Amino acid sequence: MCGIVGYIGHRDAYPIIVKGLQRLEYRGYDSAGIALYDGTDINLSKTKGKVEDLRSKSKSTISLKGSLGIGHTRWATHGVPNDVNSHPHYSNSGDLVIIHNGIIENYGSIKKALTERGYTFTSDTDTEVLVNLIEEVQKTEDVMLGQAVQIALNQVVGAYAIAVFDKKKPDEIVVAKLGSPLAIGIGENEFFIASDASPFIEFTNNAVYLKDEEMAIIRLGKEIKLRKIQNDAVAYPNILELQMNLEEIEKGGYDHFMLKEIYEQPRAILDTYRGRLLADQGLIKMVGIDQHLEKFLNANRIIIVACGTSWHAGLVAEYIFEDLARIPVEVEYASEFRYRNPVITDKDVLIAISQSGETADTLAAIKLAKEKGAFVFGVCNVVGSSIARETDAGAYTHAGPEIGVASTKAFTTQITVLTLLALKLAKEKGEFSESQFHEILTELETIPAKVEKALESNALIEIIADVYKDSPNCLYLGRGYNFPVALEGALKLKEISYIHAEGYPAAEMKHGPIALIDEHMPVIVIATKKGHYEKIVSNIQEIKSRKGKIIAIVTEGDEQVTQLADHVVEIPETSESLSPLVTTIPLQLLSYHIAVMRNCNVDQPRNLAKSVTVE
Ligand code: G6P
Repeated sequence: MCGIVGYIGHRDAYPIIVKGLQRLEYRGYDSAGIALYDGTDINLSKTKGKVEDLRSKSKSTISLKGSLGIGHTRWATHGVPNDVNSHPHYSNSGDLVIIHNGIIENYGSIKKALTERGYTFTSDTDTEVLVNLIEEVQKTEDVMLGQAVQIALNQVVGAYAIAVFDKKKPDEIVVAKLGSPLAIGIGENEFFIASDASPFIEFTNNAVYLKDEEMAIIRLGKEIKLRKIQNDAVAYPNILELQMNLEEIEKGGYDHFMLKEIYEQPRAILDTYRGRLLADQGLIKMVGIDQHLEKFLNANRIIIVACGTSWHAGLVAEYIFEDLARIPVEVEYASEFRYRNPVITDKDVLIAISQSGETADTLAAIKLAKEKGAFVFGVCNVVGSSIARETDAGAYTHAGPEIGVASTKAFTTQITVLTLLALKLAKEKGEFSESQFHEILTELETIPAKVEKALESNALIEIIADVYKDSPNCLYLGRGYNFPVALEGALKLKEISYIHAEGYPAAEMKHGPIALIDEHMPVIVIATKKGHYEKIVSNIQEIKSRKGKIIAIVTEGDEQVTQLADHVVEIPETSESLSPLVTTIPLQLLSYHIAVMRNCNVDQPRNLAKSVTVE
């Protein structure tokens, strides 16, 4: 977590860094800071709070001059969020200044050793230890900054993306990466450094993504060369041309990124299957799979690993793969999988799902599976992300940048990719006749319009949100394909409105949660026609007889549930296997409106971060 930005070139660094930090606030937003070199000295300002607070503070406290600078937006790991623990951090001499995303695990022992050598520390952070270690190496080994960083990093254990400069040598910034993302934007005699490309996209489309264990000395007037951290091997960078544009990362008239991203789903789903789904030819084309089809077809089972919302997409995929392609699937939290000594063989295929492509636990699960010989397939949104690079093959979701911390379009596009994959395998395995296959492909093509239709319930959902916005608890129920949607609905509400919510398989309600139901408990039930409808009707009766308030997501024209429920939201009819793509929409909107009505920070909920690059 944490977002880092740096600039060296001919423009004013301050506006570039501050604007860039705002774009990276999805990565953490409990404190922020900036260090600028004005030609003679470093001016540093940092504060607890958002980048906007940093902007106000720095305007009145420091000179904003300079064409060299680094900035940071933080998600605290070591030390509470306060001014002192915010980045950047100075070295003891005041010559070096650093920003860091990640964790230095052995910082305690290094700090002890440095303290014995007379170093003092003002913060509780591991980062301040690292910058002083670099300084100590510089002094004792009498080396330049780049070499000092390299030697120091060989002594640390942990994860990092760092940028550091030395005011005695203000024509360079040294960067390094292990485990946390770092991109370098290359302009005309100027360089940008950032956790992702969004801070520099209006300046350049050319970027280099550092690989793990790589570092670079970014020097004005020189070409970038990459070095290995462990040895002196030099690599020429692979300069990518980015496809992202500025509009994609701005709010475009919506009050919040989350709402914009909810509304982008018809387009995002279409972009996900565009060029892959060829219904008229009865074909699914996925370049990432075509070469590896045998791996999937000969697999004993598929193991899906992910975290958070991506894990819920994995659960939906379990239904899809087993139901349509008849391949056994296990879905695991990446954080559990990586530590539980799982039985994995070279006959297993592991699918890792991750919006950001940077989630530390998912990355670790991938590495473990690879070590054991499994074939690893990635489903990521962020192009060029660590997971996309670490996997043997994969498919991007093409959802476009997702900025709201609560994931929305990532979820539906992940399900879309996984559906395409399952359908392709089902076809290869002969699980479908040509006509059945054609029918489901054609139906998949109708999903964007159905999502559009579901979005038309927005005004109604706002009214429902107003009724329940003060409820302390909420229960979400679904069965089959829509059980994971219930989990996801509950997660959305928890994340952004801070209301306690639980998702449950509807039939399990009687084994516990039913005890919670009284006239104050809103229960959101996914009760669409296809998929155990009669059973769900019985579950709704059970809630009703205990006076629970029922908000039902039903198929257009529904009568039975409509008579029983306190509120109904209609969605277009869809086959059961594709229904999660539509049923999830009203739940996203409900959590959004409740959070807005409770004055919560929808896009940046407390304590969370979009990309979790720490364990
Ligand atoms: C964080 C985010 C969630 C996300 C999860 C997994 O917790 O707040 O929205 O679902 O990480 O992220 P990934 O990028 O791997 O999908």
